[in-house]
Amino acid sequence: EKKNLILAFESSCDETSVAVVEDGHIILSNIVATQVNSHKRFGGVVPEVASRHHIEQITSCVQDAMTEANVSYDDLDAVAVTYGPGLVGALLVGVSAAKAIAFAHELPLIPVNHMAGHIFAARYESEISYPSMALLVSGGHTELVYMPEEGQFEIIGETRDDAAGEAYDKVGRVLGMTYPSGKEIDELAHTGKDTFNFPRAMIKDDNYDFSFSGLKSAFINTVHHADQLGETLDRADLATSFQQSVVDVLAEKTLRACHEYDIKQLILAGGVAANKGLRARLEADMEKMDTVEFIKAPIKLCGDNAAMIGAAGYVEFLKGQRAGLDLNADPSLEF
Ligand code: KG4
Ligand code: ZN
Repeated sequence: EKKNLILAFESSCDETSVAVVEDGHIILSNIVATQVNSHKRFGGVVPEVASRHHIEQITSCVQDAMTEANVSYDDLDAVAVTYGPGLVGALLVGVSAAKAIAFAHELPLIPVNHMAGHIFAARYESEISYPSMALLVSGGHTELVYMPEEGQFEIIGETRDDAAGEAYDKVGRVLGMTYPSGKEIDELAHTGKDTFNFPRAMIKDDNYDFSFSGLKSAFINTVHHADQLGETLDRADLATSFQQSVVDVLAEKTLRACHEYDIKQLILAGGVAANKGLRARLEADMEKMDTVEFIKAPIKLCGDNAAMIGAAGYVEFLKGQRAGLDLNADPSLEF
């Protein structure tokens, strides 16, 4: 049977990534050139710096992805690319490169939503079955997405202020960590105790929305107050308390959604889905719900990468979804 090979592009933020994916679930190559070191000293992603890095990296990423996959352009069936949401200048680099290759090799061009890409990263662990629910947690988004069937995305709840990853990064800065600090806080959190009992905003509210800015402020105020008094707080306890608060709210609302919606699967995806505390907590909670299967994006594919775009692009490819060469970046693209 003929296999479909997709060359996929991701450049929405600070990773330049190109992958070759077979039938939407086998990775032949997944090159990720990260720029985080260039953004660290600014404490966050600088859009102009990001665009320039993407331009410098994209050609060699394509070459490396093709070489590692050991395929030629003639073997490809389509080109998939993230066209939003994200930084417009960053997105345009991937979109332009994808168009150039699609045009030169007469391949169909598949437009992919970055957030759908995050969800489809879970396809590398298991087939997705519908209806399903996704907890999508990244640096820019925190959403519960109900998917009644393939291609349908309904946001039933989202953050009203900061995204979960954004809160991790801001709190990490106060602890003197470098951007992005989610992983470092996660590791530290496994060594402390929840002694600060930070707020769990909206946890009992009758909706699926989240809020993390109050938690962030409570954390920052606690640290500054101690600084003024000349006291030093236990960093591990701070990290544990912060993480426990984030995980409690995410897990409680997600569980409620899983009970109230008739679903076959819960999917955990996005950069923050790499969080060991969150994965363990949802695993334990979902074990008690034997009607819903819990699947998560593999840890290595939680952060931005093109393999997830290839997985989502394959589904679009089968549906016949195509973009013209006038495809533009859409920085505020929604589902
Ligand atoms: O999905 P992603 O790579 O980029 C966006 O599309 O936003 O997510 C990046 C975010 C960052 O805020 C980073 O701190 C967070 O994911 N992150 C984590 C962990 N690993 C990455 N947050 C908590 N725990 C982790 N282990
Ligand atoms: Zn992302």
